[in-house]
Amino acid sequence: MTRVFVLTNHKGGVGKSTSSTNVALGISAMLRRHGASNSRVLLIDTDSQGHASLVTTGRKDYGADDSLYSVLMADRQIAAQTLLKRIVQSTWDENLHVLPASPMLEGAERELMGVAGAPYRLADPLGKIANQYAAVVIDTRPSFSLLTEMGLLAATDAIVPVEPR
Ligand SMILES: Nc1ncnc2c1ncn2[C@@H]1O[C@H](COP(=O)(O)OP(=O)(O)OP(=O)(O)O)[C@@H](O)[C@H]1O
Ligand SMILES: [Mg+2]
Repeated sequence: MTRVFVLTNHKGGVGKSTSSTNVALGISAMLRRHGASNSRVLLIDTDSQGHASLVTTGRKDYGADDSLYSVLMADRQIAAQTLLKRIVQSTWDENLHVLPASPMLEGAERELMGVAGAPYRLADPLGKIANQYAAVVIDTRPSFSLLTEMGLLAATDAIVPVEPR
């Protein structure tokens, strides 16, 4: 089973995006160095700020049709296919793939609030395609929002970055 790591902390600026992008790249590099047959890693950006998308793809102007937003809004039967279509290659490494965030995700939270099954709209499609990847890493926004809940439900492991004092 593919491990899915979610990086989360409701506190802002503690290094979630920096860590998730570098952990994703690091896992891929480590697997390749050890000759793994599949060293592809998928990074999923669930934060509408799009910082992880920006640093790994050079863009954060993703919209309704080319980001995680369209996966969350897709009919259940086509959500996994939609997810695969939205994945872009990172400029960092060909084996680092990114499902980008969009400012539209703010609207998705409002539209999906209270909709039955909404918290599983990432876990369900990801569960169908995760076996194509050696690992998945999910970056979250600094709050316990619906999107963060989606990230937690899709994950096998949670990493909580904290600021040492
Ligand atoms: N290990 C680290 N050591 C020192 N500085 C760091 C480290 N990780 C991240 N930073 C810096 O801390 C700042 C916040 O990092 P980052 O954007 O990754 O946090 P975040 O938790 O994703 O923030 P947000 O909650 O807004 O999404 C950035 O300026 C980043 O360069
Ligand atoms: Mg962040």
